[in-house]
Amino acid sequence: KSEVEWNPSQERLIVVSNRLPFVLKRDDVTGKLVRKSSAGGLVTAVAPVVVDCGGRWVGWTGDCSFGVEDEIPEASEEDTTPTAGLLKHQVVPVNLNQQQFDSYYNGCCNGTLWPLFHSMSDRAVYSTEFWQDYIQVNQLFADKTLEAIELTSAEGPGIVSLVWIHDYHLTLLPSILRQALSEKNCNARLGFFLHIPFPPWDIFRLLPWDDEILLGLLGCDMIGFHIEDYCINFLDCCHRRLGCRIDRKNLLVEYGNRIIKIAALPIGIPFQRFQKMAEEAPRLIKEKRQKIILGVDRLDYTKGLVHRLKAFERFLEKHPEHIEEVIFIQIAVPSRTDVKEYQDLKEEIDQVIGRINGRFSTANWSPIRYIYGCVSQSELAAYYRDAFIAMVTPLRDGMNLVAKEFVACQIEEPGVLILSPFAGAGETMQEALLINPYKIDDVAELICSALEMSRDEREVRMKNLRRREKMNNVDAWAQSFLKTIRAVTSDQGSDSKM
Ligand code: ADP
Ligand code: G6P
Repeated sequence: KSEVEWNPSQERLIVVSNRLPFVLKRDDVTGKLVRKSSAGGLVTAVAPVVVDCGGRWVGWTGDCSFGVEDEIPEASEEDTTPTAGLLKHQVVPVNLNQQQFDSYYNGCCNGTLWPLFHSMSDRAVYSTEFWQDYIQVNQLFADKTLEAIELTSAEGPGIVSLVWIHDYHLTLLPSILRQALSEKNCNARLGFFLHIPFPPWDIFRLLPWDDEILLGLLGCDMIGFHIEDYCINFLDCCHRRLGCRIDRKNLLVEYGNRIIKIAALPIGIPFQRFQKMAEEAPRLIKEKRQKIILGVDRLDYTKGLVHRLKAFERFLEKHPEHIEEVIFIQIAVPSRTDVKEYQDLKEEIDQVIGRINGRFSTANWSPIRYIYGCVSQSELAAYYRDAFIAMVTPLRDGMNLVAKEFVACQIEEPGVLILSPFAGAGETMQEALLINPYKIDDVAELICSALEMSRDEREVRMKNLRRREKMNNVDAWAQSFLKTIRAVTSDQGSDSKM
């Protein structure tokens, strides 16, 4: 059952995201497709709404061998995840062939937009071929979404779709959809949420297709970002690149005869679920006397892993009194492994960890334990619960959910969160120890202060962090998004003036 209220009986939610809320895997023996569920926060909050209101989810299957002849399988009986209730007709697959996957996903999304939007412009590649495929794949998503809207409208008179598009893979989709809907004289509410930062104008303008992205997004009724800085960057780009009138105070952009609402809506996590997992998870680390310093990340250059490891090395160098007293556990999920930048990063991390362990290990102790792989949610909760320090030190990050999951799982001895101000989470999680991850020496000293922090101080900080995340959980976030888009679309043509 959804925790997000969904009152309007005439409204259906259509979610569009690059990936479907589960991946499809082909059984090696039978060749049959099966669902492999994912348990991310977005899926937890939004899939139950789609199930309850009879909506649809449009997305890529995660498998280039999936073709028109394949059908989405129903969920298995053992599946208890939030997506299990999605019937097969509610799942609208977008098929990508290998060439499209390489060019649109590896090339444009992860080789161009990801680094640029994270203000790492020197890593971005600009290829017209990738861009053409990005346009083509956005068109494919638009065709499928349009079919979903039409099927929804056919369910009865007055039934209207609220289309919620997610992330940087699909920035052109809103304007393609708006155009197609107007040609068909069909109505739908169009909203977009960007899960990564929106860069400042000076960076954004480097993109050869900056105007196309802005125009693509302005097809929406409403666009959500995590924090106000990203909203202001977007408004600024619309003003400077397209000459749009903007209202910084009320976060509005005027484009043609429409006014688009911009909103800062920081995403949260399923707090109660993490807390419960932490209560039930077994103890993984037996050596009680060692304090755990924890890092959990997708293996991505935005996460600042190398800087973090070097800071830990500096800490060991400067504070040999802590040797054998701490262990650093770094869990890294393999990610985007076809992209060279990610392959190079993997090698660099292997080397740095090897060097630090070689340099400081003793007969009974190695400073770093490195897990390269996906761990189960329950294991993750155990690490979060038992860590004394969590180091969330990205160089740039839209929000960062790991920081939030850590505090949700801190149900025993309170630990300390070391957090980068360059993550969206740094805006609100003020009781964390905030530190610029590029300042290696200062990070090293902060690890030491965190280890020596009094229990009282740790407790007060953690209590406040937990209270905020519990209140602003992922359901509250989804609810605010839906409320905002409804408010601006019911207003249209009346008082939404600038
Ligand atoms: P990003 O979206 O850039 O990957 P976030 O911190 O916002 O960064 O979200 C990462 C998500 O991936 C979190 O929900 C976290 O629990 C999950 N995750 C990270 N590392 C692992 C891992 N090794 N195994 C399983 N899940 C992981
Ligand atoms: C970030 C993006 C998501 C993306 C996720 C994992 O959180 O904002 O859109 O799904 O990373 O990356 P992947 O490329 O594996 O989907």
